Amino acid sequence: MVSVLILNGPNLNLLGSRQPEVYGKTTLADIEGMCRAHGQNTDLEVTFSQSNHEGALIDAIHAARGTHAGIILNAGAYTHTSIALMDAIASVELPSIELHLSNVHAREEFRHTSYIAKVCIGVICGFGAQGYLLAMDAMKAHLKL
Ligand code: DQA
Repeated sequence: MVSVLILNGPNLNLLGSRQPEVYGKTTLADIEGMCRAHGQNTDLEVTFSQSNHEGALIDAIHAARGTHAGIILNAGAYTHTSIALMDAIASVELPSIELHLSNVHAREEFRHTSYIAKVCIGVICGFGAQGYLLAMDAMKAHLKL
């Protein structure tokens, strides 16, 4: 099994009750369970984590080097603001996928900008919780597993 880090940023701990018309009713715990189950199909061992703190997310990305083969990152609003997260991803040189539940390009203008995408192998957005599984499939293909 190859290990991947699925990292979630601010406010994603509130999934299920947070703006369900935008983000759906699936909780982050539900998504973690879906990812772990999908790991069996994709030969990926999943480490699933969430933080509301930019520095903690950066620490998790640094710690991924030498531990995980890739990173799937839903950085939440930090996607649109954080040069520090972009630099962290670039620094660890692990294949990373930017992920969003919502279609950020169909939303407010400020969500159309992503610092994270500049250092990722690809972006998946707009498919709700299913996007996490699509990102795992994409990571598996990228890693040629
Ligand atoms: C999000 C999209 C971001 O714009 C927003 O700030 C989030 C969630 C998504 O998963 O759709 O917190 O990353």
